[in-house]
Amino acid sequence: LTIGNTKYIFQTSDEVTSALPGNSIYITDTHVYELHKDLFTNKPTIVIPPGEAHKTQDTISYVTEQLLRRGAHRKTTLVGVGGGIVTDIAGYAASIYMRGVPFCFIPTTLLGMVDAAIGGKNGINFGLQKNLLGTINQPDAIVFDTQFLKTLPDTEWSNGFAEIIKYACLFDTALFDELGRNNIHYYQQHDDALTDVIKTCVDWKTKVVADDEHENGNRKLLNFGHTAGHAIETLYQLSHGQAVTIGMMIACRIAEREQGAPTSIEKRLKELLHNYGLPSAIKFDVKQVMQVLTMDKKRNDAGIEYILLKDIGEACITLLSFGAIEEALVYIDNGSNY
Ligand SMILES: NC(=O)c1ccc[n+]([C@@H]2O[C@H](COP(=O)([O-])OP(=O)(O)OC[C@H]3O[C@@H](n4cnc5c(N)ncnc54)[C@H](O)[C@@H]3O)[C@@H](O)[C@H]2O)c1
Ligand SMILES: [Zn+2]
Repeated sequence: LTIGNTKYIFQTSDEVTSALPGNSIYITDTHVYELHKDLFTNKPTIVIPPGEAHKTQDTISYVTEQLLRRGAHRKTTLVGVGGGIVTDIAGYAASIYMRGVPFCFIPTTLLGMVDAAIGGKNGINFGLQKNLLGTINQPDAIVFDTQFLKTLPDTEWSNGFAEIIKYACLFDTALFDELGRNNIHYYQQHDDALTDVIKTCVDWKTKVVADDEHENGNRKLLNFGHTAGHAIETLYQLSHGQAVTIGMMIACRIAEREQGAPTSIEKRLKELLHNYGLPSAIKFDVKQVMQVLTMDKKRNDAGIEYILLKDIGEACITLLSFGAIEEALVYIDNGSNY
């Protein structure tokens, strides 16, 4: 299963770039560059500063300048080596430079491997709006190599597991149960088990996106936890994973309120999140969150299509008015500690 013509390469040789075109220009961030210097020896490499604050037009301008200086043309392949920020920058730059050049990804974070590198959505932030400017365009290849994760800090492992838990909640009770039996330390020690989990998530995302590349239907499900999540991520400087898990918990509360969903879902999710070092709540300002939500790019005139769980492994898309969302948030904010 694939999306467009994207090749998925699960790396087995030492030379991670051996399967990629020789005329490539690499894009990475300073962290990945310093930690994995050997990979970039004798390869033209554009190094960008790390962090969400740099997923901006300024960085795109810098990359464009570098591409021009290095003589990149329509047949040059751009290879993004890094986390979701690098692959978003690389994919977006490749999609607009000369109206589009080939590109490949080598995700180096768990979140990148299970989520950001897959699906062809790439973009940058604008002001408070995450990923406001972007493209949908598939990479030619994605190379998966879990060796990169050996240098990944635990907090970033947690971020990756946030999205893994998201897939489990949406589609996969067996995965939810497996995650419940293990923890981050286990997956750090058992590469086979980790690779299986990554492949399961890659399959889920690929299947959903292949059926609905332009997000008219089921691709929306992947936004579970991301609606309120994105708003609090920007407002409270949380990591993407932390924001998404709090967003998933908020969605559980909304489902209880709006659809009478059982509180057991929220309890099971909360327990799993804590097992993976992820938060389930934050004190937030409803007015501020609503202000960001009303500018959400997934809004329409009537409100926002919210992703709610009917059960673990079963999700639905529900149109909620802004009024209903605000009421639910007030109730959550004043409700109780998670
Ligand atoms: N395009 C999509 O479909 C999509 C999906 C999900 C998330 N995203 C985006 O991805 C971004 C988050 O991705 P992320 O969590 O990978 O963040 P990231 O790219 O910021 O990486 C996290 C941190 O880990 C460092 N790092 C990367 N690889 C490392 C390694 N092997 N060892 C040590 N450190 C390493 C990075 O330098 C950074 O400091 C967000 O901007 C989000 O919007 C995009
Ligand atoms: Zn996400």
